[in-house]
Amino acid sequence: MCGIVGYHGDSKASDIVYKGLKKLEYRGYDSAGIATAGNPSIKVEKGEGTIQDVSPEKKDGTSGIGHTRWATHGGVNDTNAHPHRDCTGNIAVVHNGIINNYETLKKELKNRGHEFKSETDTEVIPHLLEEQIEKQNSLHEAAEKVAETLDGSYAAVAVLDTREIIAFKNESPLALGVKEDEYFLASDVTPFLEYTDQAIFLEDGEIIKLNGDYKIYQDGEEVDRKPRKIDWDAEEASKEGHNHFMEKEIKEQPQTVKKAAFQDETDMKEAVEMVEEAKTVYLTGCGTASFAASLGAKYLREAEATVVTEQSHELEYRTDEITEDDLVIAVSQSGETADLLATLDDSDAPTLAVVNVVGSTLARQAEHTLFVNAGPEIGVASTKAFTAQIAVLKLLQYALQNELDEGRRSILETAEKLDEVLRKNEGLLEDISTYLTEKDHVFTIGRDKGHEMAQEAALKLKELSYIHVEGFPGGEFKHGNLALIEEGVPVISFMKDAGYEDIVSNTLEAKSRGADIIGVGSDPIDKFRFFIEIPEDPNSEILEIVPFQMIAYLTSVKKDNDPDKPRNLAKSVTVK
Ligand code: BG6
Repeated sequence: MCGIVGYHGDSKASDIVYKGLKKLEYRGYDSAGIATAGNPSIKVEKGEGTIQDVSPEKKDGTSGIGHTRWATHGGVNDTNAHPHRDCTGNIAVVHNGIINNYETLKKELKNRGHEFKSETDTEVIPHLLEEQIEKQNSLHEAAEKVAETLDGSYAAVAVLDTREIIAFKNESPLALGVKEDEYFLASDVTPFLEYTDQAIFLEDGEIIKLNGDYKIYQDGEEVDRKPRKIDWDAEEASKEGHNHFMEKEIKEQPQTVKKAAFQDETDMKEAVEMVEEAKTVYLTGCGTASFAASLGAKYLREAEATVVTEQSHELEYRTDEITEDDLVIAVSQSGETADLLATLDDSDAPTLAVVNVVGSTLARQAEHTLFVNAGPEIGVASTKAFTAQIAVLKLLQYALQNELDEGRRSILETAEKLDEVLRKNEGLLEDISTYLTEKDHVFTIGRDKGHEMAQEAALKLKELSYIHVEGFPGGEFKHGNLALIEEGVPVISFMKDAGYEDIVSNTLEAKSRGADIIGVGSDPIDKFRFFIEIPEDPNSEILEIVPFQMIAYLTSVKKDNDPDKPRNLAKSVTVK
């Protein structure tokens, strides 16, 4: 997915757009560009690379748009970078999403004499607007016509040489920030939080026009939408003196896990009723959130719920078995992941969302939402949102067992131990990360809830260090994968209570074939290469994963990777 920013007011648009795009870089960072309605007309600067490579100072104008890209259609190069213009050059467009029918539209436009410069799907939008502005009586009607011809996901923002900005969306997120006579458009609230906490989250099919004020249209009619207050502050969306967002977000977890535990009593009660009324509870998500969902399934099963868990992009192929008598618990940091939203669209069951981003599509579409309160998570690799998701799902287990208050108290105690776990193991985590920088292959194993720990530790390490890391259920390791073990291959083993003897024997099977063992658990084993000791705790998953978030971070820094913006990845993927 990409990041979009727009500004319409009386300040220098390029400066505000430039700063806003830097806040959205976690959404995509292979190319960037800005366009302003300057004097005498539209001024565009764009290119391959990060927004830092685009210099805003040369562009005048108090109305402008910008884009930071995560390529889907067309290679990573200057021509395919956004914004894209029409034949007159008076309309510039940035877009986040995928236009499925762009090839047909492009061919038709070419037959009608339009010239194309890029390989992108986006470039059809400025040319379609160019035609409709000729035909329609108003700019919003022109945009309505264009939106009708597009099939796919899009948040599209256009600036015209008249200074007007017009935008329309379907599936991809777009928020409006309002501050007196200044208006900000962005893919999420972080780019304008330093100017205003008043925001409107645009709905699918809405058209917004900025021209001295803002007007929102739906089906040709103007609709009255009032801004709402966002309780995140700009400071939270900054590094607060840390070297990277990921480092800050890892160290914030003693606070964010506590915030996650402070769920409103009524909200928890409603969530419990939804689970109790459901025939089967489906827990789903993608990436890190899918491991939280899978852990959540084990927690709810212990509370005697009938559960199924599957990653959303696979659950999609069995939504026909999900009925309105079931419940889908959808776990997500951003609330914008396309694979998850598509599966929910196909499911007849009500949705209980466990999500971080307020105002996200998932939060607005779900029948009920438990916000995990982790605050803005900027690092592409999810850390504090994961432990907050685990805390909320664990709290739901306690609530189902009529132990909400005890459960909350125990999670608060777990959060208290987090600082100690990081502080006590600080030197050891440095040593392990230094050791891992020399390795090309690493395996992680665990049984029962240790399996999700193994998978999440593997995901963190591979997405940050670019080392090949694979997570396995401990019992599965000997069925073939053991063949990959030779002298010095690291095996990380999550040694938890459930299946303790078995995971010890699985680990020793690997050690006896030359593996270097990195053990984690509450009973240290000396003969292992490294052992990360974790205090006994009823919510131990929250404590066990944080050292591996830090190891992944340290290994990334030691390998000169960018921990906040790992190659080829994006914070949440709004395309399927
Ligand atoms: C990926 C992110 O793109 O999407 C992961 O890099 C994340 O960190 C995954 O776990 C799912 O995103 P979300 O927002 O639905 O939790």
